[in-house]
Amino acid sequence: MGNRIPDEIVEQVQKSADIVEVIGEYVQLRKQGRNYFGLCPFHGENTPSFSVSGEKQIFHCFGCGAGGNVFSFLRQIEGYSFSEAVTHLADKYHIDMPDHVTAVSSYSSGNSDEQKMAEAHELLKKFYHHLLVNTKEGQKALDYLLERGISMEEIERFEIGCALDSWDFITKFLERRGFEAGLMEKAGLIIRRENGDGYFDRFRNRIMFPIHDHHGTTVAFSGRTFTGEHPKYMNSPETPIFRKSKLLYHFHQARLHIRKEERAVLFEGFADVISAVGSGVKEAIATMGTALTEEHAKVIRRNVGEVILCYDSDQAGYEATLKAADMLQKRGCTVKVAMIPDGLDPDDYIKKFGGEKFKQDVIGSSVTIMTFKMHYFRKGKNLSDEGDRLAYINDVLKEVSQLSGPLEQEIYIKQLANEFSLSLDSLKEQLSVFEKESAGRKRDSGRNELQERRTSVPRPPRKKTGLRPAHENAERLLIAHMIRDRDVIRKVLDRVGFEFNLDQHRAIAAYLYAMYEEGADISIQQLFKRIDDQELGQLLTDILMLQINDELSETELSDYVKKVLNYRNWSMIKEKEAARTEAERQKDFIKAATLAQEIIKLNRSLK
Ligand code: GTP
Ligand code: MN
Repeated sequence: MGNRIPDEIVEQVQKSADIVEVIGEYVQLRKQGRNYFGLCPFHGENTPSFSVSGEKQIFHCFGCGAGGNVFSFLRQIEGYSFSEAVTHLADKYHIDMPDHVTAVSSYSSGNSDEQKMAEAHELLKKFYHHLLVNTKEGQKALDYLLERGISMEEIERFEIGCALDSWDFITKFLERRGFEAGLMEKAGLIIRRENGDGYFDRFRNRIMFPIHDHHGTTVAFSGRTFTGEHPKYMNSPETPIFRKSKLLYHFHQARLHIRKEERAVLFEGFADVISAVGSGVKEAIATMGTALTEEHAKVIRRNVGEVILCYDSDQAGYEATLKAADMLQKRGCTVKVAMIPDGLDPDDYIKKFGGEKFKQDVIGSSVTIMTFKMHYFRKGKNLSDEGDRLAYINDVLKEVSQLSGPLEQEIYIKQLANEFSLSLDSLKEQLSVFEKESAGRKRDSGRNELQERRTSVPRPPRKKTGLRPAHENAERLLIAHMIRDRDVIRKVLDRVGFEFNLDQHRAIAAYLYAMYEEGADISIQQLFKRIDDQELGQLLTDILMLQINDELSETELSDYVKKVLNYRNWSMIKEKEAARTEAERQKDFIKAATLAQEIIKLNRSLK
């Protein structure tokens, strides 16, 4: 990024951008009073302590202290530089940037290698798509897709393409366009020949599905064979721009729908996502050939509280469902399972029964994890056989004993009692046996669990919000009023000057005094522009979140000023008293007497 962005543009972007909307793309926000609240994206938490003020156009987390304006948010969450954050928003709000300011994709982050990699992917995506849709060479691949029931509309929407049956078409294509081969190899697009002599295309004769990161930049491909070759799917390798443990397929498109529907539907395969979206389930996402990771779960939880798991109905799918459910529940998500009849995957189901039925009977009829497990326990059992029946009941009771809420337990016990005409008492008795067993197990592993929890959820130290000494609170309130009203700046400058007790408060006050004396506009945003220090910025947002009146009365003002100065004087008295004792000890009575005079004077000023 060579050139500075003119101030007018920055201002225009600032005015057009709405922090609630921008942050709303990352965090699910709920309005509560004047502010919006959500789960902080900067630290793991289950209760919302992250707030956004539309009025003040700032955000602040009471949990970890993160805070700032819309630019600082993007800098912190995306790792953007200031100008990248501005460019990103200018793009979003259709503000023309002068030509000399280079446009950035979300993958730049000042790293031109990554930018180049993303550029090559973007270019190839368009090229592959063109080959599939417009050329004779793409005909067979297109036929395969259409036969599979993927419509032209879906091909367009997911920008599906195809790679030619050639060893070096893409290698040459990229070379001609000036992409350096070593870098393209790092991007996973071409592979170095074993004899070290040149490169060849990674993807050949395959249907190409572009994979976008969470901002919609193309960062990888998955190529499916349509000629029965192995492997069935070939994915881009892990690269600096393609992190499988973080990326969720279709997330950039689904995000808005996830917010709107207040749930996400998670699949195992991206082919399922394509079909689901075609059926109107637009909040569909998938992992990229990996199991769900903690990082995936974090991204999901940041955006939504409910997840429906819709995995393949086979043993692997069952196990993956339980693991994913556990991970998501630990992060505070409500998890449900959409069950597919035996042997099918969601995509098969949709092709066989149609999208409407999928939406209603599968997604719309999703069940709790417990019910899902009960279905599973039934598999292969003949419940009219006494032995099988007993085994089933025991399986269920063991699971029920793991549930924490007595109410939840009651529901399932009643269900069992009704279904098998058993007495509630006998079921409860058996349940308590299992409970004791599992309590014993927990005791044994309890220590480990505790340790794990301690290390796995790094919590920043909570700030003592309400427990500040009076002089500190007074300083914060003074600053808050100074930002609101420039008259207050003059009054504080006269009466307190640079006598703030906390260095950081003094620094903010100094900025305000300077702006006042320059006759500059005093607004929250102007202040942020000047204070280019993360820690100060965070303190500032903390102060800005204080609830203050629209007026500052003279009594209130002098009360704050008194608290600030008294503390200062009081600490000076303490210092001087210590010095006096020391002087007396050294028998320097002249010095001790001078100090005593000063102490009296200071004491007088403490009213
Ligand atoms: P179709 O057979 O085209 O319907 O695909 P599917 O979605 O049913 O795929 P499947 O359930 O077999 O696999 C789910 C996911 O695992 C896919 O979306 C891929 O990301 C990944 N995957 C499947 N097969 C392979 C493979 O052979 N190699 C690699 N690397 N990944 C695969
Ligand atoms: Mn399939």
